[in-house]
This record gives sequence, structure tokens and C-alpha cells, in this order.
Amino acid sequence: MSAIAYSLDAAAPHCGAVPMVEIRDVSRRFGRKPDLLGRASIALGLVKPPAVVRALDRIDLTIAKGEVVGLVGESGCGKSTLGRIVAGILPPSEGQVFWQGQDIATMPAVERRAESLRIQMVFQNPFAAINPRLPVAEVVGEAPRVHGLIEGGRGAEAAYVDEQLVRAGLDPSLKGRYAHQFSGGQRQRIGIARALAVQPEVLVCDEAVAALDVSIQAQILNLFMDLREELGLTYLFISHDLGVVEHLSDRVAIMYLGRIVEEAPAVEIFSRPNHPYARALLAEVPRIEIGKRAFSSLKGELPSPLHPPSGCHFHPRCPYAFARCKIERPELRTVAPGHKSACHLNERH
Ligand SMILES: Nc1ncnc2c1ncn2[C@@H]1O[C@H](COP(=O)(O)OP(=O)(O)OP(=O)(O)O)[C@@H](O)[C@H]1O
Ligand code: SF4
Ligand SMILES: [Mg+2]
Repeated sequence: MSAIAYSLDAAAPHCGAVPMVEIRDVSRRFGRKPDLLGRASIALGLVKPPAVVRALDRIDLTIAKGEVVGLVGESGCGKSTLGRIVAGILPPSEGQVFWQGQDIATMPAVERRAESLRIQMVFQNPFAAINPRLPVAEVVGEAPRVHGLIEGGRGAEAAYVDEQLVRAGLDPSLKGRYAHQFSGGQRQRIGIARALAVQPEVLVCDEAVAALDVSIQAQILNLFMDLREELGLTYLFISHDLGVVEHLSDRVAIMYLGRIVEEAPAVEIFSRPNHPYARALLAEVPRIEIGKRAFSSLKGELPSPLHPPSGCHFHPRCPYAFARCKIERPELRTVAPGHKSACHLNERH
């Protein structure tokens, strides 16, 4: 029998149940805090305050158990920042993060450390965070051993590691080798085996297939979906590739300069995008082209997140912008069942 006791009621989100993850009114700023002398100099007008990037600006996001939520947007819009906050490896500047209904800021440290194992990240380059001097068996086995997830001695640990490698589609007889001895696709599988080894319930995949060849991408995406079935995993799937997101996701959130501008079931957002930003990207694109679409191809320059435009951040690039757009931030509002969009046009009748 499997050493991992996962729930098997996988795919369908459970309406009305406590969400797996909930992000409530979360903002995140980056910038250097001035020291005492710096603060005095700023107060006296001798120097300018340091620039602050508002990477996330009042974000709400809910992910149900077993759901795959796709997160897309142009480079620098805040996707990775949001992913890291969901995974609990970056604190928000403001707002709350709930894991299965519990506010993580109020959890005792020990409980939070244990709970944090349940949300793992899979990165574009998994080996940036892995010691290249360790053999794969140790890369995969270290965390579960440290956290007491394996019962029994060395034999039990070896069997446990083998199980994770098989689950990720790797030959366990290769576990004595080192990261550099594997291909890109195999390395990503090792990263996935390593994440699975701590028995997560949620995977935050941040451009997890972006560095791979197309044929290998398909294999890894299939692996993610098989794991969803087998282990009942929940996913936040970050990607700049619309084809990948459309293929995988139940629901999609589109970000623009630190804000979610539209959120809907994947089928709905790709067939009936509401927000002018989403429409500009999708409406005129033949279906066959969607897989090739990346968010960098929209006309007009992306404004700097250091100085985002007032009101609706999209107004300098929006063909429908009117006076209110420059002044007032549009809130995300329901425009159809399960479909939200942040555009003032939805209130103009
Ligand atoms: N540690 C940091 N210190 C300062 N600024 C940061 C930091 N991390 C992110 N930022 C800034 O926050 C903004 C959002 O960055 P983030 O990496 O979340 O974007 P992204 O959507 O993941 O981009 P990409 O598609 O290029 O990965 C960017 O302007 C980025 O420069
Ligand atoms: S709020 Fe105004 S500027 Fe923003 S997307 Fe809607 S119409 Fe365009
Ligand atoms: Mg990123």
C-alpha cells in the first residue's frame, strides 16, 4: 500500500466547502526601507523617498480543493509574487492568507511550518534551490526525513524515495546520480518528486514548463494532470502561455500591473472575454493561434510598476477609456455566473 495517504476525491471543486487557499485583499510592496538618517533626510526634503514597487494591489483569490486555477499576465505583473504569497514563502504587506480557512498570520510557528508543507512550489528551474552535490535520493528524501514523514529505517526511506520517483515518471535505479546528469525534462520530474515527497495538497507551478521543449512540455503537463487524478492535488498554475493555461485550467485569473482584472471559468474567458485587456489579446485571435500567444505581444508599452497609471491601470492602452477610467479604480464585479471583470464599461448601460 502507498505510504502516502491522500484523499482521492480529486477533480471537481467542492462548492460551499472551505476553500483550499484564500487570498483576501492582499497587497505586496517591494522597496528598501530608509534608515533613521534616510528618513530624516526625506522628511527635510533633502533626498527623494526610495522608489516602491507595488507588485500586488489589493488582490482577492480563492482556490477550491481539487481545482486548477491558471494565472496569466505580462512579465512583471506580479504572478510570481502572488504565487509565493499563496505558498507562504513571502508575507503580504497587507491583507490575509488563509489555508483551509486558517489565517496563516495567526498560526503558531510550529503549526505554520507543518502546514506549509502542504503547499509546494514547482519552479521553472527547480535546481536553483537544490544542492547539486547531493544525489537524487537525498534531494528527494531529505525533507520528508527531516519532517518525520517516513516511518521505519533506511529501508523504508529508500522505498519511499523510489515511490516518489516512480510517481514522477523516473526510474528509481537512477537515484544515485546527480542533477547535472539528467535532461531538462527529467530534472523537472526530480523537482516534482521532491515536492511530492512532503505530501502536499497544493502545487504552485511557476512557469514550470516554460524552459522545456514542446514535446517534453506536453509530457510534464500530462504528469501534472495524472497527479491531480491520483492524489487529488489542487493547482495554482502560473504561465505566460495561454495555450497551456487554456488546456489545464478550470478557472483563469488575468493580471495586469499587480491587479486581477478578470477571472472566470477557462472555457468562458477564452470564448467570451469581458475586459478590454483580455479582449485585445483573445477576441481577434484565431483558435489555432492561441497556443502561440504570449502576453508580451499586446500593442503599446507596459507602464512601469514603479509609476502605475491612475484609476484603471490599463487606461493608457485601452481603446474604450473614458474620463472615469483615469480617476477611479474599477472593482472586480460579477458580470455572469462565476465570471468577474474590473471595467467601468460594465456599469454603463
Ligand atoms: N524581491 C523583489 N525586490 C524588488 N522588487 C521585486 C521583487 N520581486 C518582484 N519584484 C518586482 O515586483 C513586480 C512583480 O514581479 P513578479 O516577479 O511577481 O512578476 P511576474 O508576473 O512573475 O513576472 P515574470 O512573468 O517576468 O516572471 C516586478 O516589478 C518586479 O520587479
Ligand atoms: S475601466 Fe476604462 S480604461 Fe479600464 S479597461 Fe475598462 S474602459 Fe478600459
Ligand atoms: Mg514570474
